Amino acid sequence: MVAKLKRRELESPPLFAEKFRPQLHFSSPRNWLNDPNGLVWNDGVFHLFYQYNPTGNEWGNMHWGHATSKNLVDWDLRPIALHAEPLELGYMFSGCAVIDHKNSSGLGEAGESPMVAVYTSCDVAGIQAQSVAYSMDNGETWAQHEGNPVISNPGIRDFRDPKVLWHEATQKWVLTLAADDHVEVYRSQNLIDWEHVLRFAKPFGSYQGVWECPDLYPMQSPDGETKWVLVVSVSTEHSKRDESIQYFIGDFDGEDFTPQHNEEMWLDHGADNYGAVSWNNVPARDGRRIMIGWMSSWRYAKDMPTYPWRGNMSIPREIRMVHGEHGYALASLPVREVEELRIDSLAIELAPADSKAVRSLFAELPLELLDFDLSFRWPDGETCSFGLRFTNANGEEVAIAVYTGARTLIVDRTTVGQKIPNPKFAQRFEAPLRELQGNLNLRVIKDRASVEVFGDDGRAVVSANLFYDEPFEAVTTFGDNDVLVEGNVSILRSIWQDK
Ligand code: FRU
Repeated sequence: MVAKLKRRELESPPLFAEKFRPQLHFSSPRNWLNDPNGLVWNDGVFHLFYQYNPTGNEWGNMHWGHATSKNLVDWDLRPIALHAEPLELGYMFSGCAVIDHKNSSGLGEAGESPMVAVYTSCDVAGIQAQSVAYSMDNGETWAQHEGNPVISNPGIRDFRDPKVLWHEATQKWVLTLAADDHVEVYRSQNLIDWEHVLRFAKPFGSYQGVWECPDLYPMQSPDGETKWVLVVSVSTEHSKRDESIQYFIGDFDGEDFTPQHNEEMWLDHGADNYGAVSWNNVPARDGRRIMIGWMSSWRYAKDMPTYPWRGNMSIPREIRMVHGEHGYALASLPVREVEELRIDSLAIELAPADSKAVRSLFAELPLELLDFDLSFRWPDGETCSFGLRFTNANGEEVAIAVYTGARTLIVDRTTVGQKIPNPKFAQRFEAPLRELQGNLNLRVIKDRASVEVFGDDGRAVVSANLFYDEPFEAVTTFGDNDVLVEGNVSILRSIWQDK
């Protein structure tokens, strides 16, 4: 029998060849996707589960989709992991997965280590509670724990997104979840019975909107101490702020989290990175803390002009703790595996030729999938500006500009995406820079419909989708007189090319 295709589908280009289809980022072939869920490494494989609507291109009917990767860039699509139907528990909202090495939950057979998902079940009346599911075959098939939910709703409308980690010092599982405008912390011996230990709330942080998707983990500081990081997404749906991933650095003893700064700190200054969390169980010999986020914003996600899919993940990023202006800070850069996508590289070294120092980069190369690894230099103490600009014949442009005097990195997409039926998309993002000493490196990952900009070794990050009318035809560097730029520009291959 021939499947009945919608008229629009008959007219669509082949899957993964669409105008705005990400070629470097994971997206589902069809349908809506939002937050990354259940990020866990097991037996050499990175698992990426995600909020997924198998029946439509808009949010709703939430299931957990599943993809796996050995290198964090090439993904294999797996069967849907957590099904909402039958609607006994309701819809499957965001959550996490751990490997229960000692079978503390008793959900595995003797001697086996189940993969355990702790997630939010949202019933048809909209009541959110935390539930447990487990898999004995590496996330391919799942069973629900019979005693669900394991944390009932205490009367709070927004009560969701559990993230669990093993807390070595107290030998307990620790769970953070977002409740309205704060984070609740629980602990457990067995992933099933949870004891409430802490409410992390005002006056800490920004309250521009509901808090979602917390993530708590230890990290090595640049001075060699263990510090704790609490990351939380803060909805920008009804606020003026663009940044949405807030973090705190402090101490955590299994019961109390004490941040060591009063300032608000943000991981990304663009609008298109939300619900970002990190992989659990990455082996110590790897040692990285790797995060991935949903590359969109609740402000306009439903208006993203893509079909038959909507939503994609960010480039996976390695997080490092660095010295910042208010004590420690976090920096993030694309994981090194992105370099495996490089098929050709061009070394550049440009000195200003005229007063504007404008040079065109490789006119003959396609400008779709690019990785810029550039270093800008100028006489220390001088103020100057410089950057990169993508342009097309329609007058649309994306400018990435650094102003050393104002100490800001700007990504301007105001002329791109004018046709999106949502005025909130045309934006100019601004990431603060620390005091610079005559040099700054800029890493830019440019996909078909996005840029991710990492300035100053990942201390100033901006993620932005781009929905242009015409593809970009030129990329130019610009800068004041004394600015020099050198580095590499690489052409990347599509992650779907062999699929
Ligand atoms: C964040 C979020 C989560 C929720 C999920 C539902 O983007 O709103 O809080 O669990 O999406 O899809």
